[in-house]
Amino acid sequence: MTRILMVCLGNICRSPLAHGIMESKLTKDHFYVDSAGTAAYHIGNLPDKRSITVAKSNGLDISGQSARKFIVSDFDTFNYIYAMDQSNYSDIISLARNTADIEKVKLFLDANSSIEDKNLPDPYYGDLIDFEYVFDLINETCEILAAQIK
Ligand code: 4NP
Repeated sequence: MTRILMVCLGNICRSPLAHGIMESKLTKDHFYVDSAGTAAYHIGNLPDKRSITVAKSNGLDISGQSARKFIVSDFDTFNYIYAMDQSNYSDIISLARNTADIEKVKLFLDANSSIEDKNLPDPYYGDLIDFEYVFDLINETCEILAAQIK
């Protein structure tokens, strides 16, 4: 079983989308996908309504997810840890215990050579159109990653 963790700040906007999208591209018998936030603001909350709406309009149900905080044992549980932006990356790396932990952490958009800015924009203070943009970017990137990991 290969385990993949998607990480953003609040675990309510970007990483729940990355979690749902990546899961939809991989077989459940060989891959486990989860998501987490580096901050504790929204622990136990559903994904943001706008993430749920955009996922639903693309045929994905992410409404069963619940936000949690990234914990140090995630370095043991997961094979790949993807940070949605540089700030998330630095926050995760600050918890690493050794080089093996550090090597598991990747900047999500590094997989997507067509994108110059490697920070996935945070749509939290934006509108539905920002969530739609982020959905498309995550979808394109998960397609690349899934093909690499399979
Ligand atoms: P996310 O977006 O990291 O993509 O889940 C955010 C969600 C909540 C907050 C910031 C970003 N917040 O400040 O509460």
